[in-house]
Amino acid sequence: MLVIAHRGASFEAPENTLVAFERAIDAHADGIELDVMEVDGELFVFHDRYLRRLAAQPGRFQDLTSAQVRALRIFSQHPIPTLLEALEFIQGRCFVNIELKSQVSQAALVEVLNQAEQTLGFSSDQLIVSAFNHHWIHALKQSRPKTRIGALSASCLLDYARFANELDAYSLHIDIDFVTFELIQDAHQRGLKVFVYTVDEPEDILLLKRWGVGGLFTNHPRHTRNVIDGLTSASPFNF
Ligand code: G3P
Ligand code: MG
Repeated sequence: MLVIAHRGASFEAPENTLVAFERAIDAHADGIELDVMEVDGELFVFHDRYLRRLAAQPGRFQDLTSAQVRALRIFSQHPIPTLLEALEFIQGRCFVNIELKSQVSQAALVEVLNQAEQTLGFSSDQLIVSAFNHHWIHALKQSRPKTRIGALSASCLLDYARFANELDAYSLHIDIDFVTFELIQDAHQRGLKVFVYTVDEPEDILLLKRWGVGGLFTNHPRHTRNVIDGLTSASPFNF
C-alpha cells in the first residue's frame, strides 16, 4: 500500500511548503500530494481559496498578483513555492501527485511536466495530475496522452468507477467518507489504482489495508507507515 504525504508531511510541518516535502521524503513516503493554483499565468503550490487560514489576511488567493504571492509567508514564515520550485526540490526522490485546484494554462503545466521529466529527475510514471474538475484532466490527457491522471471524487456513483475509465485515468482518488468495498472492486476490475484521502487514523488505515486499496493520502506518512507495518495502533493525534 503506497503512502502518499498529503500536502507533504503536513502533520509535522506547514502544508504545501518545501519543509513539509522534505519531512515527507525523510519519512520515506512513496509520494507527495500537493495542490496547485494559477496566478498571473504562474503555477503556485497552495490549497485554500481564501488567504485567512494560511496567511492570516483577508481576500482570495486568486485575486493576488504573482508578486504578492511571492511576498506571502505561510504562518508568517514559509514562502509559497511555484510548482517548478517544488519539483526542483523533490527531484524525483518520490512520485508527485499534482492536484489542480484552479484551471491552469495547459501550456504552462505541460512545460513544467516536460521539464520535470527532462531535467529534474522524474520519470513519467512519477507524475500524476488530478482534479475534481474532470474537464481539466480530460483536456490534459487529450493534449499529453502519456500523462498519468487521477480522477478525484467525493461520491460513490451508481456506476462506480466508470467515469474514471472514461477519463482514461491511471487512478481513482476517493474520499474516505465515500469509499466502499464495491467501489474498490469495480475500480480494480477496470484496471484502476485506488488511492484514498485523507487517512490518518489506525482504524481507517487497517480497514483500507484489508480492502486492498493501492494507496493512502496521509498527513503523517511516518506514523501511517508504522500502522501499516503493525508497529503501532495508536492514533497520531494522541501524541
Ligand atoms: O488529492 C487528495 C486530496 O488532497 C483532495 O482534497 O481538499 O485535501 O485537496 P484536498
Ligand atoms: Mg489536495
